[in-house]
Amino acid sequence: MRIFETHAHYDDEAFDSDRNELLRNFPEQGICRVVNIGSNMESSRNTVRLTEEYDFFYGAVGVHPSDTGNLSEADIGELCQMTKSDKIVAIGEIGLDYHYDEPERTVQQRWFIRQAELARELNLPIVVHSRDAAEDTLRIMKEFHAEEIGGVIHCYSYSKELAKEFLDMGFYFGIGGVLTFQNARKLVETVEYLPLDRIVLETDSPYLAPVPYRGKRNTSLYLLYVLRKIAELKGISEEEAAEITYENACRLYCLT
Ligand code: NI
Repeated sequence: MRIFETHAHYDDEAFDSDRNELLRNFPEQGICRVVNIGSNMESSRNTVRLTEEYDFFYGAVGVHPSDTGNLSEADIGELCQMTKSDKIVAIGEIGLDYHYDEPERTVQQRWFIRQAELARELNLPIVVHSRDAAEDTLRIMKEFHAEEIGGVIHCYSYSKELAKEFLDMGFYFGIGGVLTFQNARKLVETVEYLPLDRIVLETDSPYLAPVPYRGKRNTSLYLLYVLRKIAELKGISEEEAAEITYENACRLYCLT
């Protein structure tokens, strides 16, 4: 069985004590490809470094909405430089986060659009973070014609009605540990509804560990629990679910 981890933050300090011990064994444990996701300038630089260190690692570079407060055009230029590496396969994570509502919404929106335009110029897909901001995310993505850029809605948390809108734009859906939570009814309904060829596996490590590790440090090894739940909901084997989501992730990130 081979598993494609589409969204993790292994540059996070939560992995400082055992990063290499943990990561070097991933391929033999079935985690065959990992995309590490940048969330600010520093983690984007560290993402590039991780892709140089591990041959099964790829990366996305970008700045999370909550970190856009001090972003500048010079930073956009540096992100652009980082994509010169052919192991950088996407721009992200970018988007809107009205949960913490900081910096102010117009600032978040401006840099979401700016980074999406960078992705368009570079012909790279986008990794979208959207929390408590469904309407604006959809409106803005329609305005910048996200269907021409493509990408994934990471940690999808909205309704299945809204999922249809993102499906129509050709987007993939990142599904992770939340699916195993006791109160995941809405997400379960969405996963039942989503076509199998649009689902990709993600952890958001070190966050959002699945049951029975909820609250602990997450790693890609726990994707098995998410896989099991998807297989159950879709009425297929775990092996099939792994293979289909692996191929979906390759299409999403344009990897052969
Ligand atoms: Ni993330």
